[in-house]
Amino acid sequence: MPGTLETTRLTMTVNGDPVDIRVAPHATLLDALRDDLELTGTKLGCGEGECGACSVLLDGSVVNACLILALECEGAEVRTIEGLSPNGRLHPLQQAFVDYGAVQCGYCTPGMIMAAYALVESNPSPTEADIKRALEGNLCRCTGYRKIIDAVASLSNGGASHD
Ligand code: FES
Ligand code: FES
Repeated sequence: MPGTLETTRLTMTVNGDPVDIRVAPHATLLDALRDDLELTGTKLGCGEGECGACSVLLDGSVVNACLILALECEGAEVRTIEGLSPNGRLHPLQQAFVDYGAVQCGYCTPGMIMAAYALVESNPSPTEADIKRALEGNLCRCTGYRKIIDAVASLSNGGASHD
């Protein structure tokens, strides 16, 4: 029908649950998460791959969900910030952000935490340099980063070494 936007079926796994939705060809993964699945913890900041507010894990790697077409994620495993706190219990990283005062407006926080989560999953004892590198794609306008780095470092065995 003229004027009707065609949609395509998309199946993937989000936070361990199978999802089966229809999306427009131009829809991004961020659109699918926020608009179709109502997982609004993942934020839209720049929409251009610069700020990291939309960071999620796609098959275990951190990606900017604003830059990925939803249909590219067919069959993929996606993890969002909501997937870190099943049953409402904060993940230790989330608790550390609270404890260290690493959250101000909070807009960058879900993306920061997903990038930090990917780091500590692959490297349980990151150095400060490792943490800075892992978070370099995530911008924060509020905190000055020190508290964020300290929050992530608090999870590593014995704390991150300064190097
Ligand atoms: S909203 Fe995706 S990188 Fe800024
Ligand atoms: S806490 Fe406001 S942008 Fe990071």
